[in-house]
Amino acid sequence: MKPKESFIIQGLAGKKSLKGKVTINGAKNAVLKAMSASVLFNGPILLENVPNTEDVKTMQAILEKLGAKIGWEETSEKKYLKIDASKIKTTKIDNDLAQSMRASVVLTGPLLSRCGNVSFPSPGGCVIGSRPIDLFIKAYEKMGAKTILGKDSYNIDANKTGLNGTTIFFDLQTVGGTETLMMAAVLAKGKTILKNCAMEPEIVSVAEWLNSCGADIVGAGTTTIEINGTSGKLLTPKMPYVTVPDRIEAGSFIILSAVCGEDVYIEKCVPEHMEALISLLKDSGINIETGKDYVRVRNNKVSNSFKAFNVRTHEYPGFPTDLQAQIVTMLTQAQGESVVFETIFEGRFKYTEDLQRMGANITVMNPREVMIKGRTDLKQVHEGEELRAHDIRAGFAIVIAALLSQGQSKITNIHLIDRGYEELEKRLKSLGAEIRRISS
Ligand code: EPU
Repeated sequence: MKPKESFIIQGLAGKKSLKGKVTINGAKNAVLKAMSASVLFNGPILLENVPNTEDVKTMQAILEKLGAKIGWEETSEKKYLKIDASKIKTTKIDNDLAQSMRASVVLTGPLLSRCGNVSFPSPGGCVIGSRPIDLFIKAYEKMGAKTILGKDSYNIDANKTGLNGTTIFFDLQTVGGTETLMMAAVLAKGKTILKNCAMEPEIVSVAEWLNSCGADIVGAGTTTIEINGTSGKLLTPKMPYVTVPDRIEAGSFIILSAVCGEDVYIEKCVPEHMEALISLLKDSGINIETGKDYVRVRNNKVSNSFKAFNVRTHEYPGFPTDLQAQIVTMLTQAQGESVVFETIFEGRFKYTEDLQRMGANITVMNPREVMIKGRTDLKQVHEGEELRAHDIRAGFAIVIAALLSQGQSKITNIHLIDRGYEELEKRLKSLGAEIRRISS
């Protein structure tokens, strides 16, 4: 097991001094799905622009336990993750690994459609409210599979009938559900129509790549996706999957720059995927310039003020729940009162206790709503006290709070930050932040 590590961060005491360039990595929430899709292929696939985050390593370990061969390959120009899942030994997903990462459930779709059965535990992952998988099970059953509930596992079987195309209406828009059923339908018999689908850009990028390798998926990026199944014929790897830039990582750096940056250039991102965030920040008075693949945030060093605003998280293209904690932290620096409403997950406000200890004026109105009154100077927590990363995104939010504050902060539990952000301390240092990783 990895030793426990913490960040030590020297606060900027409200000064906006970070400057330089940040390069955005490929999206972990896209590449994890492309990795799962390896099971649909008759040979090795190549993945490009893969972030080397802990979640990618966990997915790699899960696939290896199933019998896949995985390794990095480098040419003079590019680095690929190569996955050969053409010879699967088992359809039982490892319990411990699956319980450490919710995205493991996405593998169940490709495995079920390729092999006719799959067994897996209730998936774990970030503690951000109850995260059921009822919609996956319901959809598999509609495609002809049977579910046998074990003591602490699900066994899904479609050996007799195989998966059959059908129409599935998702009761709510689910990112993982949309991707998983889309992939399950690729090898199924006949046409599957998925309705009320999630529309995230990560789904579109995976669908386009699968199509380039022989799948027939129409409508990804809209609420209705139609898939003509291949009746078991595996896909042929024809071209690498190029991971779409991580809009949540880019958004996290944009928010950080809005409150701590003097002049930060965020490159290799897709501003078009972040319209909800960029438009809110522009309207509140933050100086943001966007190009096709970059965002530049520039601040007047003297003025700390920008207008308070309300946020309601929403499925894409609305404001992402994965930027909720970062925006609440930012709003502690706004002039006036803001309300942030979380529509996707209940219980994603645990981190506000740490912000309150730093002096933020935040009231949790109910499990889905917080009110922030700004502007407050954030201060160091008491001698001997620590801050904590509660989940991947709240971890980044607490890093922003520590940078905003006066004095030095210690943030524990940073393995959660490592799940989604590669070498965060290195990238913050390059912008001029004082941050180091220690064993604790
Ligand atoms: N839901 C159900 N039943 C289901 C499936 C989902 O009730 O069978 C509910 C969830 O409980 C939630 C809502 O549907 O209330 C939406 O959840 P969704 O399925 O869309 O989330 P997910 O696929 O599990 C992905 C991202 C999350 C991100 C959400 C929402 C990955 C690996 N994870 O999760 O990312 O918050 O979509 O955008 O793609 C993160 O990266 O830090 C992270 C948590």
